[in-house]
Amino acid sequence: MRKLIAGNWKMNGSLAANQALVKAMLDGLRGAVPAADMALCAPAPYLAQMQALLQGSPIAWGSQDVSAHEQGAYTGEVSVAMLKDFGCRYVIVGHSERRQHHGETDDIVAAKAQCALAAGVTPIVCVGETLSQREAGETETVVKRQLAAVIHTVGHCITEIVVAYEPVWAIGTGKTATPEMAQAVHAVLRAQLAAASTNAKRVHILYGGSMNAANAASLLAQPDIDGGLIGGASLKSADFLQIVAAAA
Ligand code: PGA
Repeated sequence: MRKLIAGNWKMNGSLAANQALVKAMLDGLRGAVPAADMALCAPAPYLAQMQALLQGSPIAWGSQDVSAHEQGAYTGEVSVAMLKDFGCRYVIVGHSERRQHHGETDDIVAAKAQCALAAGVTPIVCVGETLSQREAGETETVVKRQLAAVIHTVGHCITEIVVAYEPVWAIGTGKTATPEMAQAVHAVLRAQLAAASTNAKRVHILYGGSMNAANAASLLAQPDIDGGLIGGASLKSADFLQIVAAAA
């Protein structure tokens, strides 16, 4: 399967900085077909800019969150229909920063994934254990519980999602899971998907957590690592393009 390298800009950027970053990435590709599918998930206010800059390019774009509701009295929320208006192909749901700082439960994350799928936007569903959960030997239980909620809610549409395994202790810390550690969890997730669908092999399972230009190739060489969800390194065009090249 062709790998998917998705950037998660988090709450970074400005009109000027985004324009420079996207231009550097597109210039870096030099019109060639990238070695992997590419996407950039920008803050919601910049989605119109992403559409203007990336339309017709090999880089897709998406949002970092979506409301679990279709429309109505939800001040501050952004609906999936709004994401569609700006051409989003992807939306990240259940990122650990949203689970941690915004009280997102497994059920809320599943509802968001469902909402996205219903509108034809691909949810990138994040799962991952904290350091204390890993040390307590709970990694498998935690990630399976997080994914089970989504499988239960979306049913046979599960093959339409992207999964991102992001160990919380590796996010933004410079501590990466070793390729073997990551592969072990990806294999667990693949088996769980296979129990839910005969097409589980089609589902991209991305690794995220301090993936960078130096460690990408060894992570992406693992049999069940189908791409990356890249935070810090997606804010530097050369690093991001090197990760894409490492997916070849
Ligand atoms: P990082 O972030 O690459 O900066 O660790 C990954 C993420 O949070 O998606």
